[in-house]
Amino acid sequence: MKRILTGDRTTGNLHLGHYVGSLQNRVKLQDDYDTFILLADIQALTTHFERPELINSSIYDVAIDNLSVGLDPNKVTIFQQSKIPSIAELTIFYSMLVSVNSLRHNPTIKTEAKQYGYDDLSYGFLGYPVSQTADITFCKADLVPVGDDQIPHIEQSRKIARRFNDLYGKGEIIIKEPEILLSENSRLMGLDGNAKMGKSLGNAIYLSDSIEEVNKKVRAAKTDINRIKVSDKGNPDICTVSKYHKVFNEGEYKNICDMCKNASIGCVSCKKILGDKINNLLEPFREKRNYYENHKSEVKEIIISGSEKANKIGNETVKEVKSAMNILI
Ligand code: TRP
Ligand code: SF4
Repeated sequence: MKRILTGDRTTGNLHLGHYVGSLQNRVKLQDDYDTFILLADIQALTTHFERPELINSSIYDVAIDNLSVGLDPNKVTIFQQSKIPSIAELTIFYSMLVSVNSLRHNPTIKTEAKQYGYDDLSYGFLGYPVSQTADITFCKADLVPVGDDQIPHIEQSRKIARRFNDLYGKGEIIIKEPEILLSENSRLMGLDGNAKMGKSLGNAIYLSDSIEEVNKKVRAAKTDINRIKVSDKGNPDICTVSKYHKVFNEGEYKNICDMCKNASIGCVSCKKILGDKINNLLEPFREKRNYYENHKSEVKEIIISGSEKANKIGNETVKEVKSAMNILI
């Protein structure tokens, strides 16, 4: 079985952007791939180092988000980054093979640095694509399902793997080059019309939101601002709600756009339909979430046994890496 590795930073609950970008694929592929789900608590520190208490509670939140959408704990391995020393070891080895300039020019690093208001980046923040490479390669993952913002990082990972093999492999592949798996709707825009739905941008619908919260947020979503009266013809191309219909209500998408254009549907009803669609999607997740929220010790057990399994695999990889580098004595 080929292996998948992906994961999320534990900086709060996951949202619909994570769902369409990656979680949906994880669920779909879990039967056909050996699936590893990383709770990236160390990477969470790159931006939330002053709030370790939030990271701690988010470890459970993110694990439950993953379980609630239908990942089966008997099939997938869910584990905590800080419990895997081999990831830290590989990060150090890989850090020698990456130039600071290539990290500085990484477009996702640049965007995120701006978003968090950093101009003088910490070593850890600048280097997280290197530790992400360790995340992916410690278990020799073949495939990484992520949103398109992660493309530069996976490219970086492939480069590091190639460099490592060229330098130390003696013609053999020691570190596998991972492939990216993008989903069809790999980027969901924010409710406010921002290009991306993001935790820190305050424009997200969370997988953990209640029916009322979803409806309230959808009602406040940015529409075609030129459409003031119901009789005004709308332009769905500049409306956030229509973009969501495309993702969550594909069957009716064209029809809704036509009705918007000839003013035969009002924004209130259009949003109502969307809210219902999103709630229909989330409803079965809410049931599972409820179960795990009430069985936290089971969640803890899932993370601990997943981390044990990941550790065994990672320790083997580090042994191979050290042996290839000829530093085993
Ligand atoms: N950087 C990813 C994000 O911000 C999270 C992540 C950490 C990750 N390590 C990973 C994703 C390894 C895929 C593979 O979403
Ligand atoms: Fe947007 Fe729907 Fe209103 Fe058209 S009818 S502007 S698609 S919310």
